[in-house]
Amino acid sequence: MRFAKTLTPIAVAVGALLAVAPLACHADTVVKIGFAAPLTGPNANYGKDLENGVKMALDDAKAQGIKIKGQPVSFELVAEDDQADPRVGVQVAQKLVDEGVSVVVGHFNSGTTIPASDLYEKAGLPDIDPAATNPVISGRGYKNVFMVISSDAQNAGTAGAYAVTTTKAKRIAVIDDRTAFGQGEADEFVKAVKAHGGDIIDREFTTNQATDFKTQLTNIKSRNPDLIFVAALNPQAAGIMKQMNQLGIKAQYVGGGGVKDIDFIKLAGNVSEGAMAWEYGRPLDSTTVGAKFAERFKQKFGEDVLSYAPFGYDAAWTAIKAMQAANSTKPDDYRARLRSISFDGITGHIEFNGDGSLKNGSSTVYQVKNGQWVTVKTVSGL
Ligand code: ALA
Repeated sequence: MRFAKTLTPIAVAVGALLAVAPLACHADTVVKIGFAAPLTGPNANYGKDLENGVKMALDDAKAQGIKIKGQPVSFELVAEDDQADPRVGVQVAQKLVDEGVSVVVGHFNSGTTIPASDLYEKAGLPDIDPAATNPVISGRGYKNVFMVISSDAQNAGTAGAYAVTTTKAKRIAVIDDRTAFGQGEADEFVKAVKAHGGDIIDREFTTNQATDFKTQLTNIKSRNPDLIFVAALNPQAAGIMKQMNQLGIKAQYVGGGGVKDIDFIKLAGNVSEGAMAWEYGRPLDSTTVGAKFAERFKQKFGEDVLSYAPFGYDAAWTAIKAMQAANSTKPDDYRARLRSISFDGITGHIEFNGDGSLKNGSSTVYQVKNGQWVTVKTVSGL
């Protein structure tokens, strides 16, 4: 018997099934990437910028057709809003653990990151910190916590040394927001000022909810300062700048991390002219990869990088590269690869010290000139 030259409808259907079947076998393996940061509330702008950096990394990884165990991998972002609140931070951390994510990129605030990472450590879930900078984060001997950003021992420490040795300030005052971040940053700044023979004439504090700083600034003014270090994020940092102006305080304003961005200038308005701020890492526009990142980010999201998106991008890639190297997305398989990671990211070279802190970090001081932040100096090898 001869086979019919034309295929019957059944043969066509079987053929179609066979053609589709191999595709189904090779459907992308979904790898869940946890993320947590403030996505609502006064710190939401920082959190969304960070989230966009992570999204961009996951889309780039997908576009590169990354395979693990021979299978194409699709990275799925599982984003949680911690509202910059330590209690909510712990709740969403538990949610991410329960969800079975392969890694967490987060959080943004030190106040949420410190307690949340206790939980990740217990769960054996790697946490790549892209923004929280209190040195305690990498200072607990944890095996699962890695920082792709310099700590405040590095950033505020450099700021303290610079205030004494370069600015030659003689009468330095400090105000912080009493969060784990602000207080920690102020402590590191004070330590460095003293280590360089400088003098702290007053130390004041506020909260991360406050809008009125006149009492603290009046105290500071009465001591006649020539430099004021402000350890707080934009909502308070810009308010302090404005009220310094209203009280006629002429001292040099120096912010710590989280101040050098367009939100500060928008919030403080004209009076931001002359303000200085120390930010982790090198200026984005100082390298070709950084400038290219800024351009691609704008194209993708329709807005400029605010501040920490490049660190979110590098943090996500740190995890992806470790998973690739281990050929596994299981923390127990890829954790050791995090420890030995070494690559050039957008923010700089990513490699960790034994405690999970960033090796050879850098810090840059900027100043507002003609309504824009301009680079004053980068200090490397921290
Ligand atoms: N660096 C800031 C913090 O640690 C965002 O909270």
